[in-house]
Amino acid sequence: MSETIKNLKEAFAGESQANRRYLAFARKAEDEGYLQIAKFFKAAAEAETVHALNHLRIIGEVNSTTDNVKAAISGETHEFKTMYPEFIDLANKEGNKQAVWSFSVANKVEKIHANLLAKINAVLEEGKKLDNFDYYVCKVCGNTVEYSAPEKCPICGASKEQFFKPY
Ligand SMILES: [Fe+2]
Ligand SMILES: [Fe+2]
Repeated sequence: MSETIKNLKEAFAGESQANRRYLAFARKAEDEGYLQIAKFFKAAAEAETVHALNHLRIIGEVNSTTDNVKAAISGETHEFKTMYPEFIDLANKEGNKQAVWSFSVANKVEKIHANLLAKINAVLEEGKKLDNFDYYVCKVCGNTVEYSAPEKCPICGASKEQFFKPY
């Protein structure tokens, strides 16, 4: 890998993180009544996304949707089979209960993502058309469900009102 590709990957990671960090800062600013500062953080967050997507495009990691689905399956699978189990283990050893919770709900949801993607991949490979339905996301744990929000989130126990449609 060339130094520049390495740098693009590092910059992609940093800009992606800045996007989420600034969105969190914007929410906090809104909570504290700094509405103008919240506007800045939201604008800058969008700008960091522009940078991140430029870097990613140049790295060459955005391919055809059929390839992207497969890449997403392998990313999610790595997370729920290897990365999060190791992180949960260590967080348990270190007694960081909040981290255990955060890693554990993410772990369960990444497995759900891998399964949802596997279904999509199977339909694509059969050359069939996908059904038209909506996804709902739990604001508390990120659980992602098809068709309609459950009465109670099976991952974190949040109520139906905590689910939103992400588009
Ligand atoms: Fe995921
Ligand atoms: Fe949840």
